[in-house]
Parts: sequence; structure tokens; C-alpha cells
Amino acid sequence: MNLPPFKLERYFAKYEFNTEYLLCSSDCESMSIAELLAMEEDAVEKFQQVWLGYTESQGSPALRAEICKLYETIQPEEILVHAGAEEAIFLFMFSAFKEYDHVIIHSPGYQSLADVARAAGCDVSPWRAREENGWALDLDELRHLMRTNTKAIIINTPHNPTGYLMAHEDYKAVHKFARENKLLLFSDEVYRESEYDPTTRLPAACDFGDHAISLGVTSKTYGLAGLRIGWIATKNKKIYAKIASLKDYTTICNSAPSEFLAEVAMRNRTKLAERNLGIIKNNLAVMNDFFAHHADLFAWIRPQAGSMAFPRLLKGDVEEFCDLLVKKAGVLLLPGSMYDDSRNHFRLGLGRQNLPQAVQRLEMYLSKE
Ligand SMILES: Cc1ncc(COP(=O)(O)O)c(C=O)c1O
Repeated sequence: MNLPPFKLERYFAKYEFNTEYLLCSSDCESMSIAELLAMEEDAVEKFQQVWLGYTESQGSPALRAEICKLYETIQPEEILVHAGAEEAIFLFMFSAFKEYDHVIIHSPGYQSLADVARAAGCDVSPWRAREENGWALDLDELRHLMRTNTKAIIINTPHNPTGYLMAHEDYKAVHKFARENKLLLFSDEVYRESEYDPTTRLPAACDFGDHAISLGVTSKTYGLAGLRIGWIATKNKKIYAKIASLKDYTTICNSAPSEFLAEVAMRNRTKLAERNLGIIKNNLAVMNDFFAHHADLFAWIRPQAGSMAFPRLLKGDVEEFCDLLVKKAGVLLLPGSMYDDSRNHFRLGLGRQNLPQAVQRLEMYLSKE
């Protein structure tokens, strides 16, 4: 297996726990166990009774029943719980693909979606999101990327890092294309339920049929990354069985305390999502003002969903800009080169409560430079 360093994670490893302001996080503001347990009357007592033996490999039935409520047609036996979305990505790629398979992947994107597919032996074609089209994907390009050995399309919407949300018609067309060409559609939906306008929310991919696999997690919209609870939902029994079998070689089963806490979280997911969407919307207003004042230095396409945007630095080199900013002002932005982007973009995180203070610090820094 040949996996290159995960650039974004290596960058975070350098700065995440020693920098005052993280202005590029992908997850929303988190909370303590006490705050989460306070969402239900008897949760503290129940948490103390959690049994610390091995748990069911697919995830506890109670947790899977809660996760099912995200979907229209999915049953608990069609959910497979993992240690974060990351484990699910890893196991899916190694279960679904073999050497010389071809996959088409939404790009730029979360590195493991492409690099784990490559490590599993796939030839990867990027399906490019274009800034000039508001970061939209072009369906004609998808048709041109298709080959005789194409096995899957991998999409991520709402999208990391651009905040792009696919139009409903396009999404339906991607499903139709996948079905007609007998392709799997792996749909990374970890930012689902964070759409700024709830009427734009897309149906989950897994509800379209057994060609599709939906990926979910507690980390992003619900702000509970420390639980390390993610899942796949699919009607595809063959893929499900292969992933379940491979999981015996990674984590076997999930952490019992985390599964209990995730169950509480998913039962209260609407409240968690509303709280975090409130933070994002306040932060969007701050960023709108900021970018309006600095139109000579930055350009941005306003995101439609999720906790990120991918603005562009108009003067200078973005890697140098981010490097000086973190070292001199203690504000972390993520250069687009971590996504193999060469057009001076950087990732901006919108989900953290202290964004207004981080932006004040950024303003001070810019006024001195
Ligand atoms: C699009 C996308 N998929 C998957 C993941 C992995 O999520 P987790 O770290 O919670 O496993 C991330 C994390 O940033 C992500 O942005």
C-alpha cells in the first residue's frame, strides 16, 4: 500500500494545538461531555452504566436506529458505524476497488477520497470544480471522463473546501448517470444538514438505490469530532458485507462510550445543527464585511452550505501569507496547496465561535503589513 503524507493533517499537526486562532477548521464548534449529556434528563446516569466490553461490530442497534432517521428508506442493518468518516473512507476504497479500476473524483477535495482510492490501485480522474462556475461541477465533463473500466464516481456535497452545494437537478442527473453506467456513487455527505437555506438540502444518496453509498459523521455539522463516530449507509449488501469484513482488521468495533454519546447527539441532532448553523451565519456576516473592506486583497465565492469557504489571495503568494500570518499573528489559515490547488486559494473555517476575534487579529496584522 502506497499512501503519501496527508498534507492537510501534517499542516494541522504543526499548528492545531499551539496556535491561538484556528481560522480554517472544517468542523463546527464542539462542546463538553457534560453539555452534551445535559441535553437529556437521564443521560448522565445512563452514561455511567455504559458497559465497557466489546461492542457490536456494525454499531449498537440503538445508535443505528438514530442514524437511520437521517434517511428516508434506510434500515438499521444498512448502517455500518466506524471510527470517524476517515475509517469508513479507507475501508470502502479497499473493499470496492482493485488494481486498474478507474474512479472519477470531485476535485479539489478531501485528500483521502482520492489518495486512498489510488492506494487501493485505482487510476483516478479528477472531476474539477471550477471557480468561474461558482465551484460547480460540469455534467458534460463527467461524461467525457467515463472509461470502460470506470467503477465509481465520488462526490462531496456540501463540499470541503468550497462550500458548494450541488443543484438538485444535477444531483439527480449524477445518480442517473451512475445507474445507467453501472457505477457506484460514493457520496461524502459529512456536511449535510448545514445548508444555509434548508430547502436546498439534497436527499441522501443512499435513498436513491443500491448503486449509492452515503458517508456521515458526528464531527462536522454536529460539532462532535472527538467522538470519532462516522458511518456508511447503503442498500448495497455486497459492499456492506465486504466493508464489515475488512473492519475486523482495523477497529473491530467502536468505542462504547462514544457510541452512547453519539446516540444522544443524533437524537438531538436538529438542536446541535441549529446551534452550529447560528454560529456559521454570524461568522458569514463578519466575513462578508471583511471581504467587502479588502476587495483589493481577496476574492471569495460565498459558500451555500457547511463550515468552509475557499477564498483567493489576489496579491502575493498564499503559502507565504499563511506562514507569516500564523507565525506573526497566531491566526491559522490553510493554503490551497494542501489541496494541490495552485491558484492562491486558502481554506477559511466558518464554524468556530471565536471567528470574530480571529478576524480582528487578522485585521490588525493586515493594517501593520
Ligand atoms: C469531506 C470530508 N470527508 C471526511 C472527513 C473525515 O471526517 P472525520 O475526521 O470526522 O473522520 C472530513 C474531515 O475533514 C471531510 O472534510
